[in-house]
Amino acid sequence: MAESVRVKNMGLRGVTVADTKVSFIDGEQGILIYRGYRIEELAKSSSYLETAYLLLQGTLPNREELAAFSRQIEEARGIPDFVIEALKKLPRGAHPMDVLQASIPILAMADPDLQVESREAGLRKAIRLVARLPGVVAAWHRIRSGMEPLPPDEHLSHAGNFLWQLQGKKPDEELARDLDVCLVLHADHTFNASTFACREVASTRAHMYAAVTAGIGALSGSLHGGANAQVLKMLMEIQSEKDLSAWVERRLDQGQKIMGMGHAVYKTMDPRASFLKEMGVRLGKKLGQEKWPRLSAEVEKATLKAFEKRGFKTLKPNVDFFSAPVYHLMGISGDLMTPVFAVSRIAGWCAHIIEEEFAEAQEKPALYRPEAEYVGHYCGLMGCAYEGIEERAGEKDS
Ligand SMILES: CC(C)(COP(=O)(O)OP(=O)(O)OC[C@H]1O[C@@H](n2cnc3c(N)ncnc32)[C@H](O)[C@@H]1OP(=O)(O)O)[C@@H](O)C(=O)NCCC(=O)NCCS
Repeated sequence: MAESVRVKNMGLRGVTVADTKVSFIDGEQGILIYRGYRIEELAKSSSYLETAYLLLQGTLPNREELAAFSRQIEEARGIPDFVIEALKKLPRGAHPMDVLQASIPILAMADPDLQVESREAGLRKAIRLVARLPGVVAAWHRIRSGMEPLPPDEHLSHAGNFLWQLQGKKPDEELARDLDVCLVLHADHTFNASTFACREVASTRAHMYAAVTAGIGALSGSLHGGANAQVLKMLMEIQSEKDLSAWVERRLDQGQKIMGMGHAVYKTMDPRASFLKEMGVRLGKKLGQEKWPRLSAEVEKATLKAFEKRGFKTLKPNVDFFSAPVYHLMGISGDLMTPVFAVSRIAGWCAHIIEEEFAEAQEKPALYRPEAEYVGHYCGLMGCAYEGIEERAGEKDS
């Protein structure tokens, strides 16, 4: 039996809770590795589907393996009718992240492998989830806009097909490639809050869809994946601000955060952010909308100066700071930015769920069960004397 560690660590910073073979971060040097490969290398040379295969299977596919995997994804893209019918009954004002989260248990009902507990079945479930999440996000966007969902187009890449189903026009190839790179960059990130939520649920032997539902809930928070939408909101608010330094100082003086800045693990620039910053500049030029990358660079400069002054030398831009302007340039609305994060992260979540279920990185599966220090009302181990309701009411009146 493992020894109990009597150290309280709010937020579990720096605490190693498991072994994993899926990904690795060096927070001091700003390095992110998926299954041994640097993220920069994958962003330059891989595709989202190839990266998803790598995360799920542990090795890069050969040509035949990638072709077979891509075919399986394409064949699984169709969203079952009853899922679309369920979406049509939801209030049009529902947030896309809530709708995505709600759709997962419904998708579960269409999965013939739901309760099959083998790695092969886990992989088939993962393929269906990777294939269907983009379709659900796109279908909801069309339904809430009063339009019918569009069928997938097998001739397009994963990202290209998503843009087509979302926006209803065949995407520019370069733009689709850029979105594919964004999906590669967001596909996994070790034990972040949503992945930990997935693994925690998977450790109870709940099925993959139950675990993914928890992950989507965790991702929606503004300190995690929800930060990209907050960054866009911030950029919109300050676009006509004359003095950005004064705005940043004011916000920090009020005890508010600058969204998209800081990271629980990186103490230097997030490697994904560097990539997205460059992409934003290139896209801004191409689309004649240089205002957005320029504005984010100015906010970055003003914020880093203010942080430096306040002694926060390790707070740097994270992935969300630069993904927000990039998605905005791609015509993706603010409330769809976190769902797009989920469309990518689903590959990492499923890889971690499979690893958790089958103890692929450690000796045997272990149910997560941390402890908390009780600091509430306490009358000793015999417990407090239970008072009848009349006595309690009497006491409060007096
Ligand atoms: C991501 C985040 C939660 C990590 O924070 P953390 O590990 O809990 O906190 P840190 O130890 O890094 O923060 C140290 C200090 O910096 C401050 N800080 C951290 N991020 C900040 C930000 N974006 N703006 C202003 N101050 C910030 C904290 O308030 C804390 O101040 P204090 O010591 O006076 O209380 C935090 O940086 C944050 O909230 N960022 C904004 C949200 C965001 O972009 N999330 C996406 C992450 S990928």
